[in-house]
Amino acid sequence: MDKLKITGGRPLEGEVRISGAKNAALPIMCAALLTAKPLVLTNVPLLRDVSTMGKLLAEMGVRVERSDDRVTLNATAIAEPTAAYELVKTMRASVLVLGPLLARCGRAKVSLPGGCAIGARPVDQHVKGLEAMGATIAVEHGYMHASARRLQGARIVMDMVTVTGTENLMMAAALAEGETLLENAAREPEVLDLARCLAAMGAKIEGAGSDAIRVVGVRSLGGAEHAVMPDRIETGTYLAAAAATGGKVRLSGTEPDSLDATLDKLRESGARIRVGESFIELESEERPNAVSVRTAPYPGFATDMQAQFMALATVARGTALITETIFENRFMHALELQRLGADIRLEGNTAIVTGVERLQGAKVMATDLRASAGLVIAGLVAEGDTVVDRIYHLDRGYEALETKLSALGARVVRVS
Ligand code: EPU
Repeated sequence: MDKLKITGGRPLEGEVRISGAKNAALPIMCAALLTAKPLVLTNVPLLRDVSTMGKLLAEMGVRVERSDDRVTLNATAIAEPTAAYELVKTMRASVLVLGPLLARCGRAKVSLPGGCAIGARPVDQHVKGLEAMGATIAVEHGYMHASARRLQGARIVMDMVTVTGTENLMMAAALAEGETLLENAAREPEVLDLARCLAAMGAKIEGAGSDAIRVVGVRSLGGAEHAVMPDRIETGTYLAAAAATGGKVRLSGTEPDSLDATLDKLRESGARIRVGESFIELESEERPNAVSVRTAPYPGFATDMQAQFMALATVARGTALITETIFENRFMHALELQRLGADIRLEGNTAIVTGVERLQGAKVMATDLRASAGLVIAGLVAEGDTVVDRIYHLDRGYEALETKLSALGARVVRVS
């Protein structure tokens, strides 16, 4: 199994280009199920989750063609509206096929995702919303069996803010009969990007990006061409890495407006930041100041940036409180960071992190995608060699990680 060997102690310096957003590409690929016409996507990141989604769609009869960052999806006919356990268990975002399949085919069989390293992650809100639209959903042998004649528009108040839940219901509503109102909807930029793609396909959607989304269903949707938005979490990860190592980086092809909470916190840590329309420059010469963060739905501080900020806090001046409010078990990296010499105390959903002058390289284990990113950042500042095991997690969500880090002067190699 591949590992990443990092020899720490060098500031990151240079420029890299940010890829398309994983968490926008995945729902947008599922939107292809809503139309018999081709959906052409550009700026699609080269990631394992994207190829998993491609495989999942191909199993249903969707033609998926990739050339560089361009992916063409052709769901002329859907042979089998089924998402099997074997793929769903490897990627929870697979549940995003449920709404589109139901809307297009009137039936769907989708495996329940099961447990996950960062928490329970149920899909009850997806189910509740689709049922409110007239679907019948039964769970048998680990699968959701859903059926509906034609989905009916409904007013749905979500019990909690859920990103993929909002996306699933928005896609289903696009082909439903009448008007759907999604309240307490997720405001994440990826939801807005999906809405833009759906609109280009002919959907009638208002309010995406706010907590109330109105969708007026149409009979059918057409093809479209859409460029996937830049990855705000990849951007934030390189910025946190540069801040932790006292580096100077320029990230191009990004969308600074989607990173307000992260940029504020980096400024608070002492970094100097300059933004343009599609670039961010960060410079940080000194040891960062400790900054506390509390995760929240967008526009709050992203849970997907929590591990990277915990890594930053391990070498900061002072004590930071890192509070996780979205997932109940997203502190697995804390124990691994301790193996590198970090001073972290866990109290419920808060990690109390007191910065140390230096971390020391060690062997550590990645548990999920963002936890791995936190370990990589810690490895970059640690003295000596850090070996991060199970980096298949990183391959799910960071395009060309070693190449980009090497371009920034880091000493990183993949070892088998
Ligand atoms: N929740 C429920 N019931 C539901 C849906 C969600 O209880 O039906 C709970 C979850 O258990 C969690 C909270 O609501 O406690 C929020 O979960 P959400 O549904 O928003 O998460 P998600 O849609 O499954 C997406 C991202 C995650 C990101 C979260 C939060 C995608 C494909 N995934 O997951 O990204 O952490 O939103 O922002 O968009 C990652 O990229 O590493 C990643 C985990």
